Amino acid sequence: GKDFLTLADYSKEEIEYLLHLALELKEKQQSGERYMPLSGKTLAMIFEKPSTRTRVSFEVGMVQLGGHALHLSSRDLQIGRGETIADTARVLSEYVDAIMIRTFEHEKVEELAHYATIPVINGLTDDDHPCQALADLLTIYEVKGKLQGLKLAYIGDGNNMAHALMLAAAKVGMDCAVASPKGYEPKEAVVNEAKNIANESGATIVVTNDPYEALVDADVVYTDVWASMGQEAEAIERMHIFAPFQVNETLVQQAKSDFMFLHCLPAHRGEEVTEGVIDGVHSYIFQQAGNRLHAQKALLVSLL
Ligand code: CP
Repeated sequence: GKDFLTLADYSKEEIEYLLHLALELKEKQQSGERYMPLSGKTLAMIFEKPSTRTRVSFEVGMVQLGGHALHLSSRDLQIGRGETIADTARVLSEYVDAIMIRTFEHEKVEELAHYATIPVINGLTDDDHPCQALADLLTIYEVKGKLQGLKLAYIGDGNNMAHALMLAAAKVGMDCAVASPKGYEPKEAVVNEAKNIANESGATIVVTNDPYEALVDADVVYTDVWASMGQEAEAIERMHIFAPFQVNETLVQQAKSDFMFLHCLPAHRGEEVTEGVIDGVHSYIFQQAGNRLHAQKALLVSLL
């Protein structure tokens, strides 16, 4: 069966199909039309890290589609006491119709998908965040009316979000420039993968240490927190290193005059982005967060 582990596994056509389905489902929901194709279906959601958006949007999405979702903290599961991922995958496959997992190592999600006989969805790993990137493409498409030919600039840590956005942009033919401090660039393997994909779509993928260079003529300006979950110990050092990468009023002057600002959230105002930018007229962060619901409903309908 089909899983959703990374956008690298999806074709441009499959991604466009999901985006159009998301728009349809959004329209249905906003017009009050009931649409419950997942009646009797259950999604198990395993969380090894905290979550606001991913948890609530998946749970509400399943309910709106007529199914329901189980929130399983790893503390409450036997995997917290040493039961293997393989056995957990095989057991859950007997009860539920799909599994969403948020964890640390990407390999764990791949292992779960290997042993499960039902679809597995990556709800964030240290390497990727495809659900967020799918909702981001939806938001950009709604605002700009297209994806191909746009330029996205990601400023900050070369983390899972940078990886997911590079792959997403490459797939849909959107140029992507990532600016990170030296030593905090996205993983070389992911950069190379994105560049290979971009060769087919005609997009360009650039990685630089200069935020001004990355932002030139950007249609979309994106940032993320400087210290992710699990990096709290290095937070103070990171504040210092990332300071020149703050998305502020001076930096965004490099972007197109009608640029849109996105942030996957949670945000730290005054750190990776100023209040003026994140709460200003160019910001679409709440439409973006809302689109997690619609993008994931499309994913659930298509996988289930
Ligand atoms: N952006 C995102 O994934 O938010 P949560 O960590 O709250 O799920």
